[in-house]
Amino acid sequence: MSRIRINGKTVTVNADEQTPLLWVIRDEVGLKGTKFGCGIGMCGACTVHVGGRPTRSCVTHLGAVEGADITTIEGLDPKGEHPVQRVWRDIQVPQCGYCQSGQIMQAAAMLKDFPDPTDADIDAVMTGNLCRCMTYSRIREAIKQAARAMAESKA
Ligand code: FES
Ligand code: FES
Repeated sequence: MSRIRINGKTVTVNADEQTPLLWVIRDEVGLKGTKFGCGIGMCGACTVHVGGRPTRSCVTHLGAVEGADITTIEGLDPKGEHPVQRVWRDIQVPQCGYCQSGQIMQAAAMLKDFPDPTDADIDAVMTGNLCRCMTYSRIREAIKQAARAMAESKA
């Protein structure tokens, strides 16, 4: 038995500490928004935040996150109204959608480090999040729009 904090709640899970966090999130906690893509840390579909930092949950063991604050796409904003989520909907970024929760989690984290990102910043940070539907140009635009919205809300 392990206890983890996920989306602001402490939950007890019945899994070995070597279990990948992704399986814990999906199968033990029942949150299905975080996706399995490659399983080896190479595609970004499984991205969540651990202590506010983007983390590949497929290659992060449960034992490594005990006591840390974990946020999944379901917890990014209680109503799905994080500025990144709003813009994602407004300009209809997703195609099949499979990669998109990972893209959104990576983008939301990057905007803390790059509040006014250039194309080069976006490409550098988002390069590990793959999209087989090639939504990259909309992702780039959405990140810029979200950055502007976040700056305006602080002004
Ligand atoms: S499923 Fe984790 S990086 Fe691909
Ligand atoms: S929207 Fe289909 S994989 Fe990215």
